[in-house]
Amino acid sequence: MERKLNNKTLAILKPDCVKKNLIGKVVTLIQNAGFKVSAMKMVKLTSDAAKGFYAIHNGKPFFNDLITYMTSGPCVPIALEKDNAVEDFRKLIGATDPAKAAEGTIRKLYADSIQENIVHGSDSDENAAIEISHFFSRKEILDINGF
Ligand code: CMP
Repeated sequence: MERKLNNKTLAILKPDCVKKNLIGKVVTLIQNAGFKVSAMKMVKLTSDAAKGFYAIHNGKPFFNDLITYMTSGPCVPIALEKDNAVEDFRKLIGATDPAKAAEGTIRKLYADSIQENIVHGSDSDENAAIEISHFFSRKEILDINGF
C-alpha cells in the first residue's frame, strides 16, 4: 500500500490551554475539522526537553520566556492524521499572534498573546515527523483505521 508522507502533524495543547480547562473544546475543534487522533498524552516538559523541542528558536529574544512558559505546567502533545495535515492544521489554528489570527481559528478564539497562544502546529512534513518522534515511539502511534 502507498505510504502517504503528508498526512501527519504534531499538535501541542500548551500549558495555557491545559490551565484554562480547554483541552476538550480544542480537541473537539480539531476532530470536527477532520483530523484523526493517532497518539495523545499529557506531559510536563523538563527544561532540557523544551529546549530540545524548540532548539530552532535558541538565541531569539523570546527563547527564555518560551522555555519558562512551556515548562510552567502540563501540556498535551497529539499526533494527528489527515490529508494535507500540516497546512490544514496551521489554517485551523491561525497566525502565531492571536491578534493577527483569522476569525474562527483556535488562536483567535482562545489565545491571549503571541507567546501564550494555546496550541503548536508543525510547520513542515519533515518537522512533523521529527516533532512527533520527540513525544511518541512508533509503538504509541496507532493506526486509527486498523481496529
Ligand atoms: P509556536 O508555534 O509553538 O512556535 C514558537 C513559539 O514561541 C510560538 O508558538 C509562541 O508560543 C512563542 N513566541 C513568543 N514570542 C514569539 C514571537 N515574537 N514570534 C514567534 N513566536 C513567539
